[in-house]
Amino acid sequence: MADTRTVVVTGSASGMGAATKARLEADGQRVIGVDLRDADVVADLGTPAGRQAAIDGVADASSGVIDGLVTWAGVPGLTGTPGSLLVSVNYFGSAVLLEGLRPLLARGERPAAVAISSNSTTVQPGVPMDVVELCLAGDEAGARAAADVAGALAVYPATKTAIAWWCRRHAPNTDWAGAGITLNVVAPGAVETPLLQATREDSVIGQFIDEFPIAVGRKGTPAELAAFVHFLLGPDARFFCGSVVFVDGGSDAEMRADDFPMPMPPRRRQATSG
Ligand code: NAI
Repeated sequence: MADTRTVVVTGSASGMGAATKARLEADGQRVIGVDLRDADVVADLGTPAGRQAAIDGVADASSGVIDGLVTWAGVPGLTGTPGSLLVSVNYFGSAVLLEGLRPLLARGERPAAVAISSNSTTVQPGVPMDVVELCLAGDEAGARAAADVAGALAVYPATKTAIAWWCRRHAPNTDWAGAGITLNVVAPGAVETPLLQATREDSVIGQFIDEFPIAVGRKGTPAELAAFVHFLLGPDARFFCGSVVFVDGGSDAEMRADDFPMPMPPRRRQATSG
């Protein structure tokens, strides 16, 4: 039987957001799409005013109650793109929406949120950690300035690391797990979307896109990612809390086999078990 839930999907006009919207709607769920265009709520998540407009627009469209949220909206790290744009869209456009829509989720049925990271967090070297720290400190101006120095190519995994850590810091808290809201993260690998195509056409990194190792031998499809997000939003995923799940055809496993799971250092193990 169809599960009549209301789910907010950012980035709903394209790629994996559009595939998620289609999958949820095929299941009978109501989707409130948020995007720069072709959406129920048209808003620019790269600005504070746009984020507030998105939160207000969702509140109006949902009468203040939602059951799910997926923050797919994001921009790639292309040559010539300012790093600051990635900070504002990929990190603040997700974290502020998660925070701002949390009270609406708390009033929902079996509420669940999914944020979007990337396997670039673990397979791309040279992540500017100052950008990660400034994002997590909530210092958008500082993070934007540092990001413009580092450049968009390096900043992309920094924004995706920061949002994954934001979720792991918040998911177990009283506001999230304690309020019955699951919060988890999906880290896709290379998935065939307009974003990946734009990256393929980039004058600097484009040449590497199809050289990147993917163990299963192909790119992912938006439908495959939508299916996993659908599961995370659903009734069989209620024991997921603060998980960061790589759905990347094996790139991370191939390149970083023994780096995860990472055993707890002895001192911390003593502290928690004693
Ligand atoms: P896409 O480019 O097909 O869709 C992204 C959507 O976000 C677009 O509809 C766009 O209009 C929207 N968006 C961008 N800036 C916005 C803003 N300021 N305000 C509101 N909406 C905005 O991209 P795709 O590939 O579906 O990516 C979705 C997410 O998955 C992104 O966060 C991306 O970083 C992430 N990702 C994608 C991978 C890939 O290989 N395609 C790999 C890993 C992560």
